[in-house]
Amino acid sequence: MAREMWGTKLGFILAAVGSAIGLGNIWRFPYMTYSNGGGAFLIPYFTALILVGITVMMLELVLGHSTKGSAPLALKRLKAKGSEWIGWLGVMAGFVILTYYMIIIGWGAVYLLKILLGGFPTDFEGFFFNDILELSAGPGVLGGFSVSVLIAVVAVWLINFIIVNSGVKEGLEKTMKVFMPILFVLILALVIRGVTLVGGMEGIEWYLTPDFSKLTDVQIWIDACGQVFFSLSLGFGIMIAYSSYLPKKSDITRNAFIISLMDSGFSFLAGFAVFGTLGYMAVSKGVPFEEVVAQSIGLAFIVFPQALSLMPVGGEILAAVFFFCLIIAGISSSASLLESVTSSVMDKFNVSRRKAVVAVTICGLLCGLIYTTKGGLYWLDIVDYFFSKYMLLIVGILEVLVAIWICKGDKLVTYIDSRSELKIGKLWKYVVGIIAPLILLVILAQYTLTFLS
Ligand code: PHE
Ligand code: NA
Repeated sequence: MAREMWGTKLGFILAAVGSAIGLGNIWRFPYMTYSNGGGAFLIPYFTALILVGITVMMLELVLGHSTKGSAPLALKRLKAKGSEWIGWLGVMAGFVILTYYMIIIGWGAVYLLKILLGGFPTDFEGFFFNDILELSAGPGVLGGFSVSVLIAVVAVWLINFIIVNSGVKEGLEKTMKVFMPILFVLILALVIRGVTLVGGMEGIEWYLTPDFSKLTDVQIWIDACGQVFFSLSLGFGIMIAYSSYLPKKSDITRNAFIISLMDSGFSFLAGFAVFGTLGYMAVSKGVPFEEVVAQSIGLAFIVFPQALSLMPVGGEILAAVFFFCLIIAGISSSASLLESVTSSVMDKFNVSRRKAVVAVTICGLLCGLIYTTKGGLYWLDIVDYFFSKYMLLIVGILEVLVAIWICKGDKLVTYIDSRSELKIGKLWKYVVGIIAPLILLVILAQYTLTFLS
């Protein structure tokens, strides 16, 4: 059977951008910028984007495009002995992330429903931890399921199943053509509201006022690289699978630049929405900014909605918009993970899309059940720590070394350059083959040292 194809170039770009744009852009990048030197952080960020972001993105795109295979098959077709398992390592890591990414989207869905039905709670922390998660005392106490989370997660899986089961063009492409424009419009609305609030501009100052003295701290450069890698969805076979559905004439260099810049642009923009709104909260409560600023789960599920609740009018609508954004950004990433795993199973076992996606969905749902228990958040934290930090780096390093040094670095260069007006030639090969893996290795070592100490 002929390999499926994207219907249009734009469809592919939107799907890849949809994968890249996710929770990391909204709840991680803005805080990282704020705490790592504000506007000055953009220097390490863009350096990282060029050295380990766009270059590895190009590698993943050329791997998928030139071999017409998902990650394991792509690496196998490079004909290095035993390299197929590197692809599987990335895909399996993606599968693990998928099982808990779905849960976070599920929380967002429960939160959205509760706000729509019952308005803002009075105690935001209690609302999230007790009412939604029904959080137990520790990871050892599972204490049964949080029923609302369980139902939401099943629903989120079902949506993902429908998208991926419908195929590359009819499922992923059609969905992302709707999701991405909506997401950009809604985030713009949140940005405009955020910066026009009383205190909004102060928030932006906290977000972006540059502190160049921080640039001497190596840690900041490491953080920037880690964020870029995760943010571009690299290391999980996603971009490999997506580019394997591109038509013959595709400009890999240009695609890599567009996808990476759109992801960074979205992150930068999201920061205005987040910090404008947090600035409003700090000013209206008359407390120092350090007391309101937050990231990750605390930002999305506690502080941000709480800030909106202080608004005299329209806060609930904005909170609904915010959670809707989280859900759309989340699903466009989770569907890409599901596609990466599904296409790998299809390629390996020669089964139909339907069979593969049914199998992956059932396994994924079952494996993720633990996070829907009352002790789920603890487990999610532990698993996230290892998979979103370590696994992608390990896969990234192995991928680069095999593709560039054991196999056909020069052939890949020719392949890329013959399809683009922008000739990157040998420069790309050396950056992605030497500098990128060295940087990733340093990050890996540093993470390990911090973990051990
Ligand atoms: N790129 C996503 C983000 O920034 C995270 C992600 C990584 C999603 C890998 C899917 C796969 O949030
Ligand atoms: Na991202």
